[in-house]
Amino acid sequence: MGILRTDDEKWVSEALGKIAEKMEVVVERNVGKIPYSTDEKGRFDDRSGKKDISWWTNGFWGGELWQLFKLTGNELFRQEAIGTEDKMDAVFMDYNGMDHDAGFRWLPTSVIRYKLEKNSESKNRALLAAANLAGRFNLNGNFIRAWNDWGDDRDTTGWAIIDCMMNLPLLYWASEELGDPRFKAIAMAHATTASKNFVREDGSVRHIVGFDAATGDYVRDYGGQGYGEGSSWTRGQSWGIYGFTLSFHYTHKTEYLQTAMKIADYITSELKENYLVPVDYRQPADVTWEDSTAAAITASGMIDLYREIKELAENGVSSTQEELYMDREALLTKADKYLDTAINLLKALHENRCDYTCDKDNILEKCTAAYHDPEHEFAIIYGDYYYIETLMKLKEQELRIF
Ligand code: GLY
Repeated sequence: MGILRTDDEKWVSEALGKIAEKMEVVVERNVGKIPYSTDEKGRFDDRSGKKDISWWTNGFWGGELWQLFKLTGNELFRQEAIGTEDKMDAVFMDYNGMDHDAGFRWLPTSVIRYKLEKNSESKNRALLAAANLAGRFNLNGNFIRAWNDWGDDRDTTGWAIIDCMMNLPLLYWASEELGDPRFKAIAMAHATTASKNFVREDGSVRHIVGFDAATGDYVRDYGGQGYGEGSSWTRGQSWGIYGFTLSFHYTHKTEYLQTAMKIADYITSELKENYLVPVDYRQPADVTWEDSTAAAITASGMIDLYREIKELAENGVSSTQEELYMDREALLTKADKYLDTAINLLKALHENRCDYTCDKDNILEKCTAAYHDPEHEFAIIYGDYYYIETLMKLKEQELRIF
């Protein structure tokens, strides 16, 4: 039954049933691929070749397959997940292909397989990825460098981005696995910097912050994949709420929970009655572009936030409650509001933005990578990943990947 109320139980179960049926057909006809999006016929593309194997989203396909394996027990999903992970070994031979998205790539593939099967290859890969991620930490400003330079005139040496909050669980995992606190210390140093420098007073979140790499001074922020400087890119808000909740989960540092709640309250105040999410909460009023990935990720983060707060309230961790200046009842009211919001977001996707037929390979429609890209509202693999993960969370059936 999970955390669902009876009237939501039915549609969530139906949605998962349709996904299981559809994806058996879709995976059969896409064996060996690592998809990012679809072509004009709705068929998956393939990023598994030499040119694209370092693409940052490649781990989501493995993660989706593992969740589907958990949902159905179908061995095809497991085999394809392992195939994806094996192919990604080529990334370790491409220094420039290794960036801060090590978490997005090896948590849903190697860490999750290692947790399930305790195999040494997956452990080795995940530890190599964690060590590389830790090596991107800049001690001058206490942040993890996001990207490598792109060969143009932009110097990204001092750039950090909000998305990186989702990569930190790889470091928390490595510390637990090795019994070595270094990785966790780096993750916490980055999270604390991000909490202070990315999250504005009103709870909205910057996408990119540029620091001086030599002194660590804050230089400026950038609109990044959102509308512009000072705007509020919806996927950035979703990485923020989910990422700070995860850092609280692994550390129990109250500041991270407070930050996650601040972002969640901001998002709740911005959402429209139809719960369909734009690309940027501050995009011009006449622009209608949506990003369904932001809706799914926000919902997933809000469910985790609900679970963390509920546990806190029920187990009476009074020092954290005191630091939050909130009593048990107030905390539970907040938690319920986040759960309701998550369910409304998912229901809006289910009713309006999902293709459960086998005509197309993707499930979610109207996903957008970046506001200023020429293309908007198409299929993106991590939209499907987070949609499935979140539905399974509602049934308390998901594999914990992040
Ligand atoms: N930069 C990662 C994302 O598009 O969310």
